[in-house]
Parts: sequence; structure tokens; C-alpha cells
Amino acid sequence: MVDPVVWDIGYLVSAALFILGIKRLSSPRTAPQGNRLGAYGMLLAVLVTMAKLYSDGLIGLELIAGGLIIGTVIGAWLAIRVEMTGMPELVALFNGFGGGASALVGFSEVLDRLNKGNVPDAGVELYATWVAIGLSGLVGWLTLTGSLMAMGKLMGGFYIPFTKKDDRGRRKWVNFPTWGPPWLNFVKGILLFTSLALIALTIQEPSNKDYVYYLVGTSSLLGVLFVLPIGGADMPVVVSLLNSMSGIAAAFTGFVIGNNVLIIAGSMVGAAGLILTFIMCKAMNRTLSAVLFKSFGGGGKETVTRTKVGSDPEEVAMVCDGISKCVIIPGYGMAVSQAQHAVKEFADLLEAEGVEVSYGIHPVAGRMPGHMNVLLAEANVPYEQLIEMDDINSELPECDVALVIGANDTVNPVARSGEGPLGGMPIIDADKARVVVIIKRSLSVGYAGVDNDLFYEDKTMMLFGDGKKMMNELNSAIKDL
Ligand code: TAP
Repeated sequence: MVDPVVWDIGYLVSAALFILGIKRLSSPRTAPQGNRLGAYGMLLAVLVTMAKLYSDGLIGLELIAGGLIIGTVIGAWLAIRVEMTGMPELVALFNGFGGGASALVGFSEVLDRLNKGNVPDAGVELYATWVAIGLSGLVGWLTLTGSLMAMGKLMGGFYIPFTKKDDRGRRKWVNFPTWGPPWLNFVKGILLFTSLALIALTIQEPSNKDYVYYLVGTSSLLGVLFVLPIGGADMPVVVSLLNSMSGIAAAFTGFVIGNNVLIIAGSMVGAAGLILTFIMCKAMNRTLSAVLFKSFGGGGKETVTRTKVGSDPEEVAMVCDGISKCVIIPGYGMAVSQAQHAVKEFADLLEAEGVEVSYGIHPVAGRMPGHMNVLLAEANVPYEQLIEMDDINSELPECDVALVIGANDTVNPVARSGEGPLGGMPIIDADKARVVVIIKRSLSVGYAGVDNDLFYEDKTMMLFGDGKKMMNELNSAIKDL
């Protein structure tokens, strides 16, 4: 029998690795190392837990090896296969798995205790254990179903397998719904109240398994209804909140099974996710309650009826000739087209001519926090050139050319009107620059589904085409000048 102190030391080292890892994540320079430290911490926690379970005779080697192999293969397969543009959906799925795993552990623990008659007598222990079990279930199931909804929304919809392919080789596509009449808040309130009442009933009558099963149903439905009305530009807030909830569920489960490292890691994820949620709310100029209960993002996509004649790369190259200041504003389309290296080359070409170049980074540009920073870092863009929204907005009135590559909602002036899905969201003031160049494939709407007046302004030049292709053509045209 191994001395239990050995396991505690293992968990302590693993918790220390998590704390050091999260500290290192606070700067782009040290973030890769922070990621590695966190991964080592998790590996250690998994190994210590497996060794402890084996040593206590609770599970056999074949189950340990089977679990590790299946988990490793699925994780590696997903990580290798995922495109950069698919990362947000994968993150949402991982949040859901985190919540689901916590809920399942709490669920099996309560059933095991009931089967063995291991229910604490009335008093603090009963309250503490059953409340922790109930809350890990409520938050865990809610996070699982809510995250699956969020994943569907980030994907925009899904293909129905085995349906007939169209002439572009695609199967039938079903859009994911965004729907939230005001009375839905009332239904959500009833579901939340019922779930809490069920937790109270499990304490009153701990041997009744039915309450546990009902709680799975009410909290899962609550997760679906919680995310159903949220869409458009508000998705970053909900994804960060689900991330936080997956940590909170894990922390509750840590209390249930008496696992300290789960409590520490879960609390850290919960706190970090909550901080991110408030950063996202600030970026969107919304309160959390407004995002959760007012459903700004609802509604479908606007149909674009206006037209605009496109420019060509040679024309844009001539406009860029002799300027003194250029601000590059990247968005989701840069990620889709993987144009970051071509964008860096464009910046290098201008800088070689003495032009001052900087990048305006909107906090919700792309599809995940820090999306643009990660891509531009990959292309070796110096961190000092990545300027946050408020700072770049004070520079834009003095800017000769604002080059918008694959961004749409984050530069849409309609946000200033306070109306519609983007209403009130702060934007990067690209329209304040002397000339605006926009690279995208068409005049179509962005993620929030709102037409963009900036495309039709006289000072705006549209370069229609794939981001990377157009950047490469623009770079060639600049070299040919
Ligand atoms: P979006 O408003 O999503 O617009 C991206 C634009 O990129 C589209 O209008 C699209 O136009 C263009 N595009 C797509 N593929 C392209 C390609 N291959 N080459 C060139 N352009 C391409 O982008 P944004 O300004 O970055 O705003 C982000 C939006 O996503 C916000 O509404 C935000 O709230 C939301 N969101 C953000 C997050 C996080 S955490 N950042 C998470 C979920 C949702 P074409 O089709 O005409 O090319």
C-alpha cells in the first residue's frame, strides 16, 4: 500500500504546474511555454490518479491502459485534423466534454453511494456532499448541452449525412437555429428553479434516485435553452462563459470525490473563464445579463441588395505608393484564407518604403479570443505592432490607408447606431482613414448577419477575392511599381 502522501505530493506538483502555466499564458511571448506546463500538469494529474486507483485496487491495468489509449488517440486525431478555422468549434466541444465528464463522475458517485447505502446522516456532511453532487450535475449537464449548441452555432449548421450531393459536391446543409422570444426567459427561470428544487429534494430524501434522473433532464434542457437565443456577435461571451462553467463543474466534482487537484484546476478554469467573459462583455459593450436575457444576436442574416464595383490590385498598389501611415485590420477572413504571411510581406514592402505600419486588433475579431494575435505571431509580426482597439482608433484619423482583410462586423459603422445585433458594439474606426481598402470575396454579411455601409462609401476600394490570393497579387503589384 502506497503512503497517501505520495499522491498528495503528485497533485501538489501538478497544481503548481497549472498555476505557473496560467501565469505564463499572460504574455504572447511566454504563452507556448505556459501551454506546455499546463499540459505536463494535466498529464501528471492523470498518471497520479490512475496509479492511485490501481494501487487502491479500484480499477485494473487494462481499464487504465484502455482509457489512456482511447483518450490519447481521439485527442491527437482531433488536434492534428482540425483546421485553424475549426478551433473555436473544437474549443466549444472540449468545454462540453469537460462539463459532461464532471457531470458523469458526480452521477456515478451518487448512484454508487445510493447502491451501497453510503449516505451521510443528516447534518453538515449530508448537505455539503449532496449540494456538491447536485451542483456538479446541474452545471455539468448544462455545460455539455450548451456547449454542443454553441459548437453547432459556430459551425453555422451541419450537413445531413447520406443526402444527395449538389453540383458543388455538398450534401444538404441545415442552418443552426437562433431563436429567443422574451417568454423563453420565463421557461429558463422555471427550469432553473426546478433544478434547484430537485437538489433540495435529494437532500430531503437522499435515497430516491428519481430526483437525480430528473435533474439530468432539467439541466440538459436548460443548457439548450440557455444558448438557443444567443447568436451573432454575442457568441464570444457565451463560449467564454461555458468555458468558465466547465471549470466550476469540475471544482464541484472535486468536492464530491475529494480530489484536491480537481478543485484547484476547476477553480482556476472557472475564474479564468469568468475574467475572459467580462473582457468579452466589455469588448461588446454589453452587460452579461443583457447578453443572456436580451438575445441581441437573434434573427437571420440580412440579404445584400446593393452593388459596388471592385478595384484591382494595381489600382490599390498605386494608392499605397508614397503614403506615410497604413493600418492593417485583420478579421475572420484572414484566418480562413491563411493570409497572415502575405499580410506580413505587404507590411514589409511598405516599411521598406518608409511607411509606418501597425495592426488594429479588435478583441472579438475572428472566432476565438486572441485569434488574430496567434495568426500574426505565426507570421512573425512583432507584438509591438499589434495595437488594441482604443489605441488604434485614436490613430486612424491620421492614417492614409486602412487595409481591412477579411474583417466585417468589427469595422461595421452600423454598430454606432445602437440598433440591431451589432448595436452598441465598439468597432475599429476604419472609416476614419483617408482611404479604406477591403479584401473579401463578396459584399456578403459577416458573422452577425448585418450589411456593412463601409463597403459602399466613396473612399472604400473593394478587392474582391480570396484573402491570400488578393494579398499576393497586391504584393506583386507593389513590387512591379
Ligand atoms: P466577420 O464579421 O465574421 O466577417 C468575416 C468576413 O470574412 C466575411 O464577411 C467574409 O466575407 C470574409 N471571408 C471569409 N472567407 C474569406 C476568404 N477566404 N478570403 C477573404 N475574406 C473572407 O469577421 P470579424 O470582423 O473578424 O468579426 C468577428 C465576428 O465573429 C464578430 O461578430 C464576433 O462577435 C463573432 N465571433 C467572435 C468570436 C471570438 S471569441 N472572437 C467567437 C464567435 C463569434 P466574404 O464571404 O464576402 O469573403
